[in-house]
Amino acid sequence: MAAGAMWGQAPAARPAPRAGMRFRPVSGLDAAAVERGRTVYESHCAFCHGANAKGGESGPDLIRSVTVLDDEKGDKIGAVVLNGRPDKGMPKFPLPPAQIADIAAFLHQKVFDAAQRSTYQVHNIVTGDAKAGEAYFNGAGKCASCHSPAGDLRGIAAKYDPPTLESRFLMPRVGGFEAMMSGQGPDPRTQTKVTVTLESGQKFTGRLDSIDDFNVSLTTAEGEYHSFARDGDRPKVLVEDPLQTHLDMLTRYTDTEIRNLTAYLVTLK
Ligand code: HEC
Ligand code: HEC
Repeated sequence: MAAGAMWGQAPAARPAPRAGMRFRPVSGLDAAAVERGRTVYESHCAFCHGANAKGGESGPDLIRSVTVLDDEKGDKIGAVVLNGRPDKGMPKFPLPPAQIADIAAFLHQKVFDAAQRSTYQVHNIVTGDAKAGEAYFNGAGKCASCHSPAGDLRGIAAKYDPPTLESRFLMPRVGGFEAMMSGQGPDPRTQTKVTVTLESGQKFTGRLDSIDDFNVSLTTAEGEYHSFARDGDRPKVLVEDPLQTHLDMLTRYTDTEIRNLTAYLVTLK
């Protein structure tokens, strides 16, 4: 999918900071809620979706589910649980909001754990087919539309060990987060950008600091902070997340595609 198309979307449809938060190594989840959620999940959901939420005989993988990845505090998951999808084999569960929030916390923790595992797994992860990975890179994966093995990715295999390299394309922002924690500041290439256009036509562009229905704030390249009150479509706000494509792809890769890509990228010495 062309990233430009995504970037043009109205911010209300896609609040950017959330997208970035999902894969940061601070899950921010309440451990007690995760534990309560685990109990409810095990008794109501594991039967179909599997004990690890990786999918079972009669329910899909919830860890790679867009519904779960897009969920915030149970809003999307709650809609599925409360209404079910009776025609598809998912019954409805009239659970109270608190239990739905707990299940959501549990599922978000699972997503987070899965992401961590794929990053820090110690076994040899270079088991894929490099040729198939190269074909995917230039073809279906559309990686070549933004990257080049002779350009920005040149020598990438010398820069990272294989597990880190794999995590870099699965979750490029995590590195930015680590850099931020280590005091180097976030990587500007991974930051969400926002442009606010006032009715006068005056534009402000910079790093997105925060956005909600009532306010948007940004810091310009010169370091100036600006905050604007929002009222519906006014002022116009355009949010661009350079990693949106990466986030979208995370839910689409098959395990084989990931293994093949890693096998290919480790050849870029
Ligand atoms: C009887 C089996 C069954 C049980 C029990 C069940 N589900 Fe499902 N669930 C399904 C099926 C089948 C689908 C796929 C429906 C579809 O294809 O749209 C599904 C879909 C979902 C989805 C949407 C996935 C997506 O990506 O669209 C979520 C979220 C979900 N279930 C959560 C839960 C939770 C939470 C529970 C426990 C409270 C639960 N399910 C219990 C069978 C089940
Ligand atoms: C729409 C543009 C776009 C597409 C498509 C895209 N990426 Fe990226 N990618 C980025 C941006 C932006 C970054 C973050 C800046 C950077 O690290 O270069 C990034 C970062 C990376 C990094 C980390 C680079 C580093 O030095 O740490 C890897 C590896 C990577 N992408 C691989 C891939 C692979 C593999 C695909 C295809 C499956 C892909 N990318 C598709 C834009 C894209």
